[in-house]
Amino acid sequence: MSNPSHLLDEATRRLDALRSTIERWNYEYYALDRPSASDAEYDALMNELRAIETAHPELITPESPTQRVGTTPQAGFAEVAHPLPMLSLSNVYNEEELRGWAARLSRVVPDTPFRFVTEAKIDGLAVALTYVDGAFHRGSTRGDGFVGEDISANLRTVRNLPLRLNPDAGPAPAAIEVRGEVYMRIADFDRLNDRIVDEGGRPFMNPRNAAAGSLRQLDPRVTASRPLRLFVYSIGYVEGGIMPSTHLEALAWLRSFGFDATPDAMPNETIDEVWERCQWWLGRRDELAFQIDGVVVKVDDLLQQEELGYVAREPRWATAYKFPAIQQTTQLLDILINVGRTGALNPTAVLEPVNIGGVVVSRATLHNEDEIERKDLRIGDWVIVQRAGDVIPQIVQSIPERRTGEERIFVMPDWCPVCGAPTHREPGEAMRYCTNSACPAQLKQHVQHFVSRGAMDIAGLGEKLVDRFIDLGMIHDVGDLYALDWEAVAALDRLGEKSAANLRAAIEASKAQPLARLINALGIRHIGERSAVLLAERFGSLEALALADRDTIANVPGIGPVLAASVFDFFHEPRNLAVIGKLRTAGVRTESDEGPAGNGGALAGATIVLTGRFAGLSRTDAEEQLRRLGANVTSSVSKKTSAVFAGEDAGSKADRARALSVPLLDEAMLRAVLAGEALPDPPAKPARARNAARASAGADA
Ligand code: IVH
Repeated sequence: MSNPSHLLDEATRRLDALRSTIERWNYEYYALDRPSASDAEYDALMNELRAIETAHPELITPESPTQRVGTTPQAGFAEVAHPLPMLSLSNVYNEEELRGWAARLSRVVPDTPFRFVTEAKIDGLAVALTYVDGAFHRGSTRGDGFVGEDISANLRTVRNLPLRLNPDAGPAPAAIEVRGEVYMRIADFDRLNDRIVDEGGRPFMNPRNAAAGSLRQLDPRVTASRPLRLFVYSIGYVEGGIMPSTHLEALAWLRSFGFDATPDAMPNETIDEVWERCQWWLGRRDELAFQIDGVVVKVDDLLQQEELGYVAREPRWATAYKFPAIQQTTQLLDILINVGRTGALNPTAVLEPVNIGGVVVSRATLHNEDEIERKDLRIGDWVIVQRAGDVIPQIVQSIPERRTGEERIFVMPDWCPVCGAPTHREPGEAMRYCTNSACPAQLKQHVQHFVSRGAMDIAGLGEKLVDRFIDLGMIHDVGDLYALDWEAVAALDRLGEKSAANLRAAIEASKAQPLARLINALGIRHIGERSAVLLAERFGSLEALALADRDTIANVPGIGPVLAASVFDFFHEPRNLAVIGKLRTAGVRTESDEGPAGNGGALAGATIVLTGRFAGLSRTDAEEQLRRLGANVTSSVSKKTSAVFAGEDAGSKADRARALSVPLLDEAMLRAVLAGEALPDPPAKPARARNAARASAGADA
């Protein structure tokens, strides 16, 4: 009696509707980057689809979006013969070779103008996909070009692979083979690697390896958990339908069927244009969301393609302009420690010099000891080094297979390599620090920062001179700069009176630098130019900032608790206060012209406390909106509090507000204030009321 036929019909209709809506949303989300449904709506439809399929398992088809989650593991991959071999491309590495390729075309098919198409060469894995009657039928790897492996179950999990060809694009051909590249976006790759490392696994070397490793999983559920995507770039064959006549038409056709076709494919009429376009792609390489390793240049006309034919296993009608590689292998010769301004021990890799895309690389940053451990780096290892655009070169990983046994494990030193003081690593922090704040390495960098352009801007005080002053014991902190013995300075080797006089003038002039520069110059951990400006604007003087409590500092918009703690600690360190004392004595300006400016909001300068529950508004929201208006939101009521807003169940804070005659306001007033209403004045105290009355009486008289 279960599943009478009319119920089944209804279920089938609903299933069709659900599946096509979900597929359309997938397409909008993954291919167009233009989602029209929210995650919640999407989940609701998926849940409904799953429920119907659970009730009617006989209606599950392999093209159902539910099947993207991956089926049960397989024993191995079956072999698939490619009806049309999957070939490779010839490569060209420069303009001359590109022109040589074009010239050969004209020798094979003379007196014919060619139109070219340029498109990105996606750095992923080639796949061939067949669709029968519009449904995804099978997908395979390239293999040796003639025989590949059947990875259909894994390919089904690739989110932007259409399981059905879009019926709105017209009738699907009886059979069609589509070719493309499976890849992983760089951001997805980074997240995946983080996850793998968190779970104690070994990260993938690059997005291409990650895509390959994920596609060749025997368990499709693993593949489903990997953020794979697909770009298609050609049609292999069509049966029971017409083949487009140009490559660009083929791409448009594929797009209309719901595929993500290789982006920004462009027609180019001349080889000059082709070369220009190749350079355009090269320039964009580092901005793309995915890795490309070159540009594919194709003859657009498919008949011409056929005429041009093949040489060996490469088509004559296409070639790949290959970009310079961004990864190379070399040897890790040593790891050096550099002590920074904050005392952080920064490890740097010393590499056997290697040319990566035209730049010789001999150093790479290593960030911290965890990174060295995570990448399993040993001194003497062969390593893969990567350089992308202007980014500082990094070591991707070691190649343990090439170890000889001579390699040394690196240990972060327990003693500062500069001053010999113990080093310390706070639990939960990645960096290890020298514990001696008078460490010359710290002092040198600290002074260099103090005098730098964005800070006190003292021209003529370069790195070498700073080092000399410190090494000769002429300065022990930045305060000493303003009390230099100028006779001794002028007597310094190679400096001379003229330079000494100029330097003296520059140091003198720096005393008048704006407060924000001074705050930045102090070298407070986490505080840079921008946050220094915020602090200067809010507090108006170094003294006010030094006296502020953590909460008040944290409440400055753009600062927050971490920076606030750092500022607070700085001003509670006796050594720092001594330096500030020296600066003040020397006449360095510690106030801004404007004085404390709040931050310009309607509630600037007001200190507000919230207590109790508010009906339609969370405390966090309210606090944030108040801060945005410039208010300082604190947790305890004092005489300085401008207003207390009390919601339901307000307790002692409301009592305290009454006791201190601080305005006590309700939720309606809170909403009014958030909407722009001014804060009411404090209730007049008896004494003041009398004074006021007398004053106005006097004026009347
Ligand atoms: S067309 C006859 N177009 O590069 C081969 N290939 O080195 C025609 N590839 O195996 C290939 N992006 O996997 C073509 N836009 C693109 C491509 C592309 C990446 C891969 C493809 C091929 C390899 C050849």
